[in-house]
Amino acid sequence: MLLIPLPAWLALGILQLPLSGSQECLNRQQALSVVRQMQKLLVAQEATHLQGIRGLRHQLSILQSHLQRAATKHNEICPQLAVPLNGRMLGRSLRVGHEVHFICDAGFRLVGSETRACRHNRTWSGTQPFCRSIDDCSSNPCANSGTCVDGNQSYTCLCPPGWSGPSCQSPIYSYWVTLSNTSFSRQPRCAEGRSGSRRCSCDTGFQLQPGGVCQDVDECQLYQSSPQTQICLHDCLNLPGSYRCLCPPGYLLHADRNACEDVNECTGKQHNCSQGDLCINTFGGHRCVRPKCPPPRHNTSYVKTSAFQCERNPCPMDSRACQLAASSISFHYLPLQANRTVPRVLFRMSTTRSLGDSLRFAIAGGHGRGVFAVRRSDRHTGELLLTSPVAGPATLEVEVEMSEFSHKVLLGKHIFKVTAFVSPYVF
Ligand SMILES: *[C@@H]1O[C@H](CO)[C@@H](O)[C@H](O)[C@H]1NC(C)=O
Ligand SMILES: *[C@@H]1O[C@H](CO)[C@@H](O)[C@H](O)[C@H]1NC(C)=O
Ligand SMILES: *[C@@H]1O[C@H](CO)[C@@H](O)[C@H](O)[C@H]1NC(C)=O
Ligand SMILES: *[C@@H]1O[C@H](CO)[C@@H](O)[C@H](O)[C@H]1NC(C)=O
Ligand SMILES: *[C@@H]1O[C@H](CO)[C@@H](O)[C@H](O)[C@H]1NC(C)=O
Ligand SMILES: *[C@@H]1O[C@H](CO)[C@@H](O)[C@H](O)[C@H]1NC(C)=O
Repeated sequence: MLLIPLPAWLALGILQLPLSGSQECLNRQQALSVVRQMQKLLVAQEATHLQGIRGLRHQLSILQSHLQRAATKHNEICPQLAVPLNGRMLGRSLRVGHEVHFICDAGFRLVGSETRACRHNRTWSGTQPFCRSIDDCSSNPCANSGTCVDGNQSYTCLCPPGWSGPSCQSPIYSYWVTLSNTSFSRQPRCAEGRSGSRRCSCDTGFQLQPGGVCQDVDECQLYQSSPQTQICLHDCLNLPGSYRCLCPPGYLLHADRNACEDVNECTGKQHNCSQGDLCINTFGGHRCVRPKCPPPRHNTSYVKTSAFQCERNPCPMDSRACQLAASSISFHYLPLQANRTVPRVLFRMSTTRSLGDSLRFAIAGGHGRGVFAVRRSDRHTGELLLTSPVAGPATLEVEVEMSEFSHKVLLGKHIFKVTAFVSPYVF
């Protein structure tokens, strides 16, 4: 609260005059002088009084403006409102508790709140109104020469051929699709029929979509995922309107465009085998091998008689160890695809010059023993079998011993050293 100081004389209330009837009388001269003194005093008092009133009025007006300023300082007003286009706003006060009203010019009608009130939290009630043309077509809402038909608070656009959408803004046939690579979507070929009907078709490998666009058919996604419908032996690359089969390194796409053909690096001199090595073509590659006869041991030694064969040197007369050792060793390299079905005959063994009456076959060594087996197929022939599928890539080795008997007496032994190179692929 504001404190206003009051002049002291107002509180005093009375004047003390030197009048006293009970004592001696003043002469005329003296009395006049007293009257003049009192008149002077009154004038002075009057001036002081007026000054005080003026001061008080001033103080009160300061108080009033203070109180008014305090009210506006608290922002007791709502934000300014926009006057709608083709309309007016009635009421200027933005203070809390006040209302404003909106009206539209002739030919327009109000959409939104007709009245809005400034609420205590200094927000307006209702929504900002706007004035809409009573003729819905007056704003020419139809693009591309569409014909506007006025409706009840709405309009309808009749679009010319080739355009669609509420305002005829969408071309019916266009490249206008949200694909980053537009070569996978194309415009159809359309022909105008005699009756004004439109017939459209897409290029081979494309399909007409609801949006009127020819979309590439992803043959790879459609067919490649299932083994029953697979179109490529290995990999499939989708192309606009078609697809291409891909083969891994070491293969060439077969003339049928779907299968992969192994490249024979050994005949094509594409190998890097050093001199003295033998090139073995495998599925998807090649290997360089150099078959070696076993080193001499227990009076037994071998000599290379061909690229893939070793023969035992003659044994010392009384060396039983030598006589029990294999008389010949041959080397065999088998290229193999992954996951071949089993059982599968990989290799047949026989002897060209049979001296005895029976042959026995046995697996004698090698680290591929778990997936191989041997059996005799006839009197003079044995077979090496693959007994479980191999998921490549892998290199498997097995040693098969063929023993020849005559009247149950061992005549001689031969060793087949077999190496299988398994491809990483099933082809
Ligand atoms: C203001 O108050 C009204 C009710 O009086 C309420 O509906 C509105 O949400 C409030 N606005 C804000 C911003 O608090
Ligand atoms: C327009 O539609 C409103 C309801 O949406 C209806 O009340 C009014 O009678 C209609 N006016 C005409 C002229 O059809
Ligand atoms: C679209 O895809 C094709 C086929 O894959 C390709 O040749 C072309 O470069 C791609 N274009 C763009 C812009 O990515
Ligand atoms: C032969 O070439 C293959 C790749 O083609 C490579 O992995 C290998 O190391 C090469 N061998 C030699 C002996 O250079
Ligand atoms: C090697 O031959 C010699 C005689 O030539 C013989 O004395 C020796 O016992 C033989 N060694 C073996 C392991 O058979
Ligand atoms: C071979 O078969 C195994 C087991 O069924 C599988 O995991 C692997 O992918 C197959 N390999 C190939 C090249 O198909």
